[in-house]
Amino acid sequence: MATERKAVFLFFGGTGDLAYRKLYPSLFNLYRKGNLRSHFAVIGTSRAKMDDDKFRAAIKKSLADSGNRTDSKEASDFVSHFYYQDHDVTDTAHYAVLKDLMDKLDKKYKAEGHRIFYLSMAPQFFGTIAQDLKTQGLLSEGNDVFNRLVIEKPFGRDYDSARLLNDALSKSFDEDQIFRIDHYLGKEMIQNIEALRFGNTLVESLWNNRYIDNIQVTLSEKLGVEERASYYDNSGALRDMVQNHIMQIVSLLAMEQPVAFTDTDIRAEKVKALRSLRVYNVADAATNFVRGQYGSINEQADYRHEDNVPHDSTTETFVAGKLLFDNYRWSGTPFYIRTGKMLADKFTRVDVVFKRPLVDIFAFPQSQNTPLAANVLTIFVEPHAGFSLQLNAKTNDTGFSTEPIKLDYLVDAQKSKDTPEPYERLLHDVLKGDGTNFSSWPEVSYAWKFVDQIRRVWDLQEPQFPNYTPHSMGPAAAEELIQRDHREWVYRLNN
Ligand code: NDP
Ligand code: BG6
Repeated sequence: MATERKAVFLFFGGTGDLAYRKLYPSLFNLYRKGNLRSHFAVIGTSRAKMDDDKFRAAIKKSLADSGNRTDSKEASDFVSHFYYQDHDVTDTAHYAVLKDLMDKLDKKYKAEGHRIFYLSMAPQFFGTIAQDLKTQGLLSEGNDVFNRLVIEKPFGRDYDSARLLNDALSKSFDEDQIFRIDHYLGKEMIQNIEALRFGNTLVESLWNNRYIDNIQVTLSEKLGVEERASYYDNSGALRDMVQNHIMQIVSLLAMEQPVAFTDTDIRAEKVKALRSLRVYNVADAATNFVRGQYGSINEQADYRHEDNVPHDSTTETFVAGKLLFDNYRWSGTPFYIRTGKMLADKFTRVDVVFKRPLVDIFAFPQSQNTPLAANVLTIFVEPHAGFSLQLNAKTNDTGFSTEPIKLDYLVDAQKSKDTPEPYERLLHDVLKGDGTNFSSWPEVSYAWKFVDQIRRVWDLQEPQFPNYTPHSMGPAAAEELIQRDHREWVYRLNN
């Protein structure tokens, strides 16, 4: 049985792409499941003029666009909880209008003073909005109420700007009231990392540098920048994907076992892991990270000829790197990461490569046997969810040779279909006040400090772009990065 949650939501950027495409359909899913029922209201704001009816029609369209039937009573009841108020976030005096509306809806729906402020708009407004919410009295008061601030990415563009932003937010909200979205933390198989590691003796007892040779994290995208070029060209793959999603995944893979399965304990361990991530000096940053930008192929324009991209752009659309932890568990075991646009396919996976047995008894002098393959545990995050464990087994014949075989667990199609979208989980977590799957400020700050160092080195050199072919797995330098260590990417094209 779902527990009904109570709250008035205020969405800044309430007519934006993210709100329509992800946030409102996710709220609808929570409504259908009973996590939201009678005691909630949603206010959308932006500068556009619109009445409630037009806004509700737009919400219905957003539900329909995401595959929902909207001719049902359920859909109509749901959208009846939506209200629209035009508002320019830079107009401090106008927050009074939002306050009155929130107070009114709070009473009407008996939301008991619980408030969720969702900032789904350009990050330069985050500080101002947080300040005005507080100074203009929109935060409700009382011992049993909550005020929660949800922040979209990007959280700063380097450590200094992130710190300024955080300082601004923390004048109005405490850390436990701030929910920094990283939608990868809402993905089923990313959450499954903890279950896999801490729910299995077999896994956790081997989860260290004695048994693991290296870990590889790949976030591969098939599309280019599409219509987000003006944002992306100011960001690049390092800031867009590595600082947040990849660092979060890596911290879940690297952390020690939390004392308990609570947001405080999990975050504490992630922070400890990130603290022991080696921040590179200039020479090591240059050696251990490579970047790329896609060229053209057939009809596909190169990155520099995409709409809204300057023809001389040096923004990277690909990153690969080696991360090293200076701690007892991981010393000597590298984590290789890579991500990029316009690659061979759209998928996310983690490959954990175990060390080969110290002695290969099957490789006696007269044996025809090929050397034992490494055991590899793969976590498939998307598009298919599941695990695969590669082991060595005897070939099924009269001789004695070995071959790698796979134990596979793939989540079945129906279960996959029923899996909640990341934003649905994350909104539910916000309603519950569970910060586990959000980035805490210390995590964000350590991630920036690491990434800033790479950026600093890159900003000193003119890259030779473009340097990879669309639909490949990135530039040759990404292969060289890992081959230099006498290793190879587990996922390669055509394997
Ligand atoms: P959009 O540009 O689609 O929407 C921006 C929203 O902000 C619109 O509703 C716009 O309405 C409103 N807005 C802009 N200026 C003001 C203002 N001065 N006062 C009030 N409202 C204003 O952005 P997205 O929805 O794409 O992105 C929102 C946030 O989510 C960003 O932080 C982005 O980085 C993040 N994000 C988005 C993703 C996506 O897939 N779209 C993915 C991951 C993160 P109007 O102009 O009418 O005022
Ligand atoms: C976003 C990035 O955070 O994640 C986008 O800004 C990227 O550039 C997207 O495309 C990838 O998310 P997913 O869930 O499609 O892998």
